[in-house]
Amino acid sequence: MEDKTGGGMDQDRWCGVGCKPDVIGVALWRKAALICAFACLGAAGCRNSTTSFAIAPEEASRPNPFPATPDVIATGKKLYDGSDCTLCHGAAGDGKGPLSRDLKYNTRDWRAPAALSSFSDGELFYILNKGKGAMPGYADRDSPEHLWQMVDYLRSFARQ
Ligand code: HEC
Repeated sequence: MEDKTGGGMDQDRWCGVGCKPDVIGVALWRKAALICAFACLGAAGCRNSTTSFAIAPEEASRPNPFPATPDVIATGKKLYDGSDCTLCHGAAGDGKGPLSRDLKYNTRDWRAPAALSSFSDGELFYILNKGKGAMPGYADRDSPEHLWQMVDYLRSFARQ
């Protein structure tokens, strides 16, 4: 009986009531963090949303060192087809990759001339590097040379 008063009560107050939900809370949080990390590794990503997305003028005006020659476009196609881009953007650039269909991503149909014409090459290059919304960035997975050549290929969808 004496144990249940005094120190015992304190323990009840701080632990009996406090700890259990805390433990569950921590476990849930860990689980969420794990799912989140997995999503980042996989495809979706836990990135800033489109609303806070701004590209600095010096990035937007960066010129593409690769002119869109047939050779560059062919290389860009190989890189695009060999990367996981097609999962979301589709091999045809129509924005209907299997992941986009399942997860309803806002991927555009690049075959429509207006889809990419509002972006400069520098902006597209920036997005490939950093990612945007659900899209992961490729800066640490691919070289700048490859990403620039992919930009040339993406623009060619509208001409096909
Ligand atoms: C997990 C899905 C996913 C993958 C993989 C992915 N993207 Fe994206 N991408 C998106 C989404 C979603 C957007 C639209 C982002 C926004 O505006 O919120 C986007 C936007 C873009 C844009 C900006 C123009 C536009 O249409 O909005 C370019 C360029 C682009 N992606 C190219 C690529 C390339 C090249 C690859 C592969 C190296 C790639 N993406 C891989 C989902 C993806």
